[in-house]
Amino acid sequence: MSTSVPRQSSTATPVELGGDLRIEVLAPGRPLPDAVNDLIAAGLAEGQKFLERASANWSRPGGPYEDPRSMMVVVFQEGVAVAMAGVAPDEYARDPDVGRLKHVYVRASHRRRGLADAMVRFCLARCEAGFRRLRLRAATPEAGRLYERHGFVHDPGRADYTHVRERPARGSDGAAGP
Ligand SMILES: CC(C)(COP(=O)(O)OP(=O)(O)OC[C@H]1O[C@@H](n2cnc3c(N)ncnc32)[C@H](O)[C@@H]1OP(=O)(O)O)[C@@H](O)C(=O)NCCC(=O)NCCS
Repeated sequence: MSTSVPRQSSTATPVELGGDLRIEVLAPGRPLPDAVNDLIAAGLAEGQKFLERASANWSRPGGPYEDPRSMMVVVFQEGVAVAMAGVAPDEYARDPDVGRLKHVYVRASHRRRGLADAMVRFCLARCEAGFRRLRLRAATPEAGRLYERHGFVHDPGRADYTHVRERPARGSDGAAGP
């Protein structure tokens, strides 16, 4: 793949990815496709411990992905899963209106082409109506920059998250910039 996904601010409209890249929302209540398990395995092989529970959380009865506001998105390229991200109720929060952006992972071969940016934009457009606040834990300050572009604010010193984003007022896209 040689094309990059153009970076945009968050909008209410899901983004169509160009070229041979397709973003799909996984159907809940079914096992993860093998292609997604392969992607998780690639992440675990490079030491991304936050993916350890991705598969179990997806299928756990009563788990976060059973909530109708939850979603897992995957970017496929010719049947190969190259990136993933999820949104679900934040199990660390007592407030059911708080969601969590989680399991954001892009295959090493496909980084710096805007895929994470496109997935975050897609998730926000689809999920923010269901959650008053979204939180996440950025693995590194560099990863944090990605989320800050989409209106997440760094909130240092918290035990269970690093960034938080309040649902923007109607008529605002809440993005940090173009
Ligand atoms: C972080 C990650 C999801 C970014 O995916 P991506 O598709 O490459 O991201 P995009 O191309 O959409 O955006 C790139 C932005 O990511 C951020 N970023 C995250 N990690 C970075 C890194 N190691 N080096 C440089 N930029 C990084 C930067 O803000 C960068 O913007 P820039 O190009 O203007 O500097 C990907 O590198 C990844 O999966 N890393 C390993 C797992 C991980 O850290 N997941 C995040 C958990 S919070």
